[in-house]
Amino acid sequence: MDTIQNIAVFTSGGDAPGMNAAIRAVVRSSLYYNLNVYGIYRGFEGMVRGDIFQMDAKSVANIIQRGGTMLKTARSDYFRTKEGRKEAYEQLKKYDIDAIVAIGGDGTLAGSKLFMEEFHVPIIGIPGTIDNDLQGTDFTVGYDTAINTVIEAVDKIRDTAESHDRVFIVEVMGRDSGLIALRSGIGTGAEAILIPETKVDFTAVLNRLDKTRKNKSSRIIIVAEGENEGGAFDVADKVKNRFPHYDVRLSVLGHIQRGGSPSCMDRVLASRLGVAAVEGLLAGRKGEMVGLIGGEVAYTPFSNAIKHIREVNPNLLKLVEILSL
Ligand code: F6P
Repeated sequence: MDTIQNIAVFTSGGDAPGMNAAIRAVVRSSLYYNLNVYGIYRGFEGMVRGDIFQMDAKSVANIIQRGGTMLKTARSDYFRTKEGRKEAYEQLKKYDIDAIVAIGGDGTLAGSKLFMEEFHVPIIGIPGTIDNDLQGTDFTVGYDTAINTVIEAVDKIRDTAESHDRVFIVEVMGRDSGLIALRSGIGTGAEAILIPETKVDFTAVLNRLDKTRKNKSSRIIIVAEGENEGGAFDVADKVKNRFPHYDVRLSVLGHIQRGGSPSCMDRVLASRLGVAAVEGLLAGRKGEMVGLIGGEVAYTPFSNAIKHIREVNPNLLKLVEILSL
């Protein structure tokens, strides 16, 4: 195998806190191993447009604590076409890029897999998404910060809900994944959670809501965006129709979940994965996502990493029910 000399790094898809820490780790470890390192702006879109620049140690100074991504991010329609990917390859050739680190979620890894199959540029992926919905890592970069943002917000909602004896429906992110809802629901003592992975008997959920202690002042239902009852607004309507005496309010947390300074856990995770991505490429690895499984670095083929997790741990779901008495 030819030795790698020029590595490029990009972020793509939805941003996630800790992406900057991952970029920093990729840049600094590349330099540590005497490689040239290039940043690509706006993911695949910047690759297609040749928005590529050389980075040095200072380029990533003072970013480990910052949310968002200094390389910016995008979802590129042009890259979805064969013509777009060919154009991207031509741009990379101009800089003699011989390996890439792609930071993002399932769309990023799927795009990387396709690009690698067509143009044979070695790529290692770093899981960067608040959704935590990739196989081959216990946690994705950004998830820990996002769930901590959610619990901070829901704790505040609980204060006002208690004061007014209200029921709150709180919508959290997760178009295809309920893992933010699940963990933050347990962490905030939510009365119920609704997630895309599980079809629940909603009548039973409503019954349970009313069966809990009669003197309960507040009730919180955490709803993941992609759940199966028609969305947070429909859930609120159903609760109101069934219990007209409840004072129901709805709160959509939205994109605050994607921003903010990354938690220590996300910074350390991103730092470890950034270095492991570069070391993996130098060792001849490609077409894999690097993650941590049981605290140890592990590489998982793209095709396995992007298999959607359709089952959540039923014990965690049961916890919500047991603890909401
Ligand atoms: O995949 C990350 C994520 O934040 C999902 O949880 C959410 O459903 C989606 O992105 C929102 O995407 P956008 O920012 O494009 O609206």
